Order: sequence, then structure tokens, then C-alpha cells
Amino acid sequence: MPSSIVAAASWHESHSFSAFVVAPHYSFGVQTPARPDRNIALELIRVTEAAAIAAARWSGRGDKIAADKAAVDAMRHVLTSVTMDGVVVIGEGEKDQAPMLFNGEHVGDGRPPLVDVAVDPIDGTRPTAKGQNGALSVIAISGRGTMFNPGPFFYAEKLAVGPKGRGVVSLEATVKENLTELSKCLNKPVQELGVVVLERPRHDDLVAEIRDAGARVVSIGDGDVAGAIATAWPHSGADILMGVGGTPEAVIAAAALKGLGGEIQSRLWTEDEELKKSASSLGYDTQKILTTDDLVGGDCFFCATAITDGDFLRGVRFHDFGATTQSLVVRSKSGTVRTIETFHRHNKLNEFTIAGF
Ligand code: FBP
Repeated sequence: MPSSIVAAASWHESHSFSAFVVAPHYSFGVQTPARPDRNIALELIRVTEAAAIAAARWSGRGDKIAADKAAVDAMRHVLTSVTMDGVVVIGEGEKDQAPMLFNGEHVGDGRPPLVDVAVDPIDGTRPTAKGQNGALSVIAISGRGTMFNPGPFFYAEKLAVGPKGRGVVSLEATVKENLTELSKCLNKPVQELGVVVLERPRHDDLVAEIRDAGARVVSIGDGDVAGAIATAWPHSGADILMGVGGTPEAVIAAAALKGLGGEIQSRLWTEDEELKKSASSLGYDTQKILTTDDLVGGDCFFCATAITDGDFLRGVRFHDFGATTQSLVVRSKSGTVRTIETFHRHNKLNEFTIAGF
């Protein structure tokens, strides 16, 4: 059964839409208005759908490595059929020693376009294993050489906001200053701002500062890609994301926020003094604020499928017919945001995973 587009509805006031028209080639260059180029993310959705379905089979079974492996295998399998010559710049696994799509791995069928690829087969392996909300399978692509490679820096400070907050907050400002500026441009009191923060001991001081400033903390156990997207999602209750999370997730969130009209700022973060000392010889600047464009340059595409239920997508549902998934597809150039619900037949599911259905 074909995918059914559930919603490609009006977005944020400050966000413009453009129509999707299929053309016979991909391009990251300038297009004439008469011939819009193809949205590769609409092909990539099959990749995150497959990974999410495979991961969802392991939801609540307490085995995050098995869940990650199932998602990686499914993602890699479907990636072979995508028309692209991709190199994985952001792979998953080094930090957590998970089974991964490794950095430098070539993915796609080898035909143009030449792209950089960021994958996170499961953003939220813990919630998946525990059967909790908030896990996504995600992929982002951009033109070759345009994606930031964080190398040995697994963590970064992050500040993410939606379209109205773009340009008014800064990693150089204090928490209070940022919340005050955001409150002005969102036209709501600081007391009503929702600040998404990963629940980690390293954030104890940050949480205290946010509460001292008068704002609410929206704690998340995991999944700060979804947390960053929430800041750009109307009526999510999240206005800004703050704190330290994974660097791969910062790059992936940048691709999503670019299309959603928001912004992410990031700064490499480590407690490893040796790594800090060797940063510049490795070509990294731990003081530099990385903008959305530094993280992902040019036109980019983002696709996510929910594994478990979240704020803006429902997780995988298995039923007699097969499975149903909900996905988000975003393209930066057009600013098009689609949520897509797909029904997968039972006999197709076995193509995605060796786990069996
Ligand atoms: P994975 O599920 O891919 O391991 O990532 C989950 C996550 O919560 C990310 O969303 C976040 O950026 C990162 O982990 C934070 O790392 P840590 O759990 O080490 O604080």
C-alpha cells in the first residue's frame, strides 16, 4: 500500500512553503522556479521507516544493543537502494560502542548526488529498550563536504530555538539573558518559557539557573534531536533547548532546524583534559560557536520516523495488517515540512530485519 501523506499543513507564520514537484534529477545547486528538483528525503523516509520498525520490535525488551543492531542493519539494508553516493560523516556508535554505520562508510547505490550522511538509527536507545516515549530513527543529508565532522568530540553545548527565536539567543550570553531576550521575541513572560534540558547530573547548575530566572524546565531522559525539534514545533511547550548532548545529535538537529526555520548553536565540550589540549592540533577550536550553517552547510534534508510515541509523531504500531509508522520529512531549501503516515504490509516487514515478524 502506498504511503499516505497525512499532513503538509500550514507551518509557522514566519515559514514559507513551496510545492513539491518530482523532477528527474537531484541537485544541490540553483534551480529554476519552473523545475523544482527532487526531494531526496522522500526516498530516505524508507530508510528511517525500516530502522524504526526493526527497532520497535525490541521496544521494552531491555536490550539496547540488540535494538541498535536491528535498526542499523535495517537502515544499512535499505540505504543500498537509495540513489545517492553517500559518505557517512556522522555515524552512530563510537560513544556508546554500539553496532554502527561507521564514519567513512559509503552508502547509497553509488550514483549522484554526492552527499554527506548523518545517521542515528536510534536516537533514544535507552527509551527504546525500556519501552518509554521519545525515541526516533533519523537521517540527514547535505552536499558532499558540507557537514561538520566532530571527530573525537562526542559532546557539545547546545542552544536550539524555533523560527521566532532565531538570532536572538547566544551561547555567549548568560541563561538569564537568553531567556529574557527569548521572552521578548516570543511575546510571553519568562515564567511561561519551557526549557528542554537532558536530565543529567552535569546539568544541575544549569537547571538551577533556569529556575532562578523563573522559567520552567522540561526534562527529557534522552533524545535531544526530538528536544531540539520541539522548540520549532508549534504548541509543543518547548521554547528553547539548553545543555550538553551528543555532537552527532547536534549536526542532525541542525539539518532538521534549518528546514523548520529554527537555529542551533553548538560548542564542542569535553571533560578530557588531554583532548582539550590536543584540540587545535587536531583542527578543532573548542571556543568557537558553531552555527547551524557550520554544522550543516547548504541545502539539506532531514527525515525521522518515531520508534516510540513522541510529542509530534506516534511510534510504530504493529497490527494484523503489518505495521504503521509516522515520519517527519523536512527540506531546508523549500522549508517544506511533511508528516507522513505509512502502512507497511506484513510480508514487506521481513525485508527490513532479520529479526522476523
Ligand atoms: P543514543 O540513543 O543515540 O545513545 O543517544 C541518546 C541521547 O540522549 C542523545 O539524544 C543525546 O544527545 C545523548 O544521548 C546524550 O548523551 P549522554 O546520554 O551520554 O549524556
